[in-house]
Amino acid sequence: MVKICCIGAGYVGGPTMAVIALKCPSVEVVVVDISVPRITAWNSDQLPIYEPGLEDVVKQCRGRNLFFSTDVEQHVFEADIIFVSVNTPTKTRGLGAGKAADLTYWESAARMIADVVKSDKIVVEKSTVPVKTAEAIEKILTHNSKGINFQILSNPEFLAEGTAIQDLLKPDRVLIGGRETPEGQKAIQVLKDVYAQWVPEDRIITTNLWSAELSKLAANAFLAQRISSVNAMSALCEATGADVSQVSHAVGKDTRIGPKFLNASVGFGGSCFQKDILNLVYICECNGLTEVANYWKQVIDINDYQKNRFVNRVVSSMFNTVSGKKIAILGFAFKKDTGDTRETPAIDVCKGLLGDKARLSIYDPQVSEDQIQRDLTMKKFDWDHPLHLQPTSPTSVKQVSVVWDAYEATKDAHGVCILTEWDEFKTLDYQRIYNNMQKPAFVFDGRNIVNVDKLREIGFIVYSIGKPLDPWLKDMPAVA
Ligand code: UDX
Ligand code: ADP
Repeated sequence: MVKICCIGAGYVGGPTMAVIALKCPSVEVVVVDISVPRITAWNSDQLPIYEPGLEDVVKQCRGRNLFFSTDVEQHVFEADIIFVSVNTPTKTRGLGAGKAADLTYWESAARMIADVVKSDKIVVEKSTVPVKTAEAIEKILTHNSKGINFQILSNPEFLAEGTAIQDLLKPDRVLIGGRETPEGQKAIQVLKDVYAQWVPEDRIITTNLWSAELSKLAANAFLAQRISSVNAMSALCEATGADVSQVSHAVGKDTRIGPKFLNASVGFGGSCFQKDILNLVYICECNGLTEVANYWKQVIDINDYQKNRFVNRVVSSMFNTVSGKKIAILGFAFKKDTGDTRETPAIDVCKGLLGDKARLSIYDPQVSEDQIQRDLTMKKFDWDHPLHLQPTSPTSVKQVSVVWDAYEATKDAHGVCILTEWDEFKTLDYQRIYNNMQKPAFVFDGRNIVNVDKLREIGFIVYSIGKPLDPWLKDMPAVA
């Protein structure tokens, strides 16, 4: 029986290993983590992450050929294939601060592997890492190998949160990079055989190590670039009276462009896009490619601009002051169907409004009060460390209350900001909300999910990203 051990039971490691276990009954999969609460949660009925379909898959396999454990060393020792899916935060100090990836957790995992194993292993990079990380890891392993042969593979994960299980069951492609030596090719084949149990052969792409590592950064950069492109257009639409949804639809009909990922929004979030682009920018700078670095940096700049623009719309619409006013925030997760708040645009929007002294009442169906308070007090990039190593803040933001109902959040509020496209926000009783709000009542839709005409009929002043402006907003400045 092939034994797989995955180091890191997070958003990537957990679901990926669960699907491998589901599809490969003859493979034993153990997911290990240094975090005891995380592993306890994986072994309970309350999984540590919310992902549609995940619970079902875990229930089918857990205890059969899927196990979660904190005994990291024992399972690494026993495994044939070791996946590494640990945190890779952006560095906050020293060389490359604010851009380069911090490989502390990766390096300590590699050193631990070298320490405990007694037989040849295949080590698979699963977390997104800077190009050439495999080389660094290879060096750590071979310099400490005691004669053991390590093959390093890069097998980046392309799943998106909220659709992780579907993405894993029917991936567009599986990418495996390895050394171009006979041993490297043999290792690629071993991993290919695992995926081939449910992924059609023509969807399994094999490359060299660097191509696989760079492809992951490139794919995320291209996706984020699409969003920044449509968001840049949204500002122009507001200035000219065009409707960004109509523009996206027309542009997306070109089969060379395609319709997906063209929804204007308050900005992209998530653990990957910004981090990976910063990483790409850093790699370009290190290679003297200043123009290329600046090109990709713009994708992030537009994203920041979009979040600022949104805050400015809110403040300028409300007579240039939100001081002491209650504003309801509907949605805090970085997208729907996830409880994940990493790099969510809601953090910057809330901080912007708090900077103007607003009082916030936040409702998200999946995000806890503790998480929201933590996000609003944590420093940039601190989120991407194992939970027990994150700085804990003794203070909470007093002007923020977190409630468990959209009606409660909006009661007596002056304005409502929709920051996540949860389906339930589409079907709220907006008449009831309007009746219980201060007047004039504003809705700022950062996801373009409400029926603008209907809301205006009720009496709301509505701002929708990239849509023809409400007469109320026409002469108000939107740019900082
Ligand atoms: C992304 C990639 O899609 C995935 O392949 C990679 O493995 C990890 O990073 P994820 O961050 O989970 O996945 O979510 P994604 O669906 O890509 O959304 C990212 C952000 O972009 C979200 O904040 C989402 O709301 C935003 N978005 C997406 C838009 O604003 N408009 C769109 O049209 C699409
Ligand atoms: P991702 O979104 O890439 O899956 P997460 O932050 O959700 O990232 O998960 C990374 C996991 O890796 C965390 O649960 C963390 O506790 C774990 N981890 C970090 N370093 C180690 C290590 N050396 N050994 C075992 N687990 C680790």
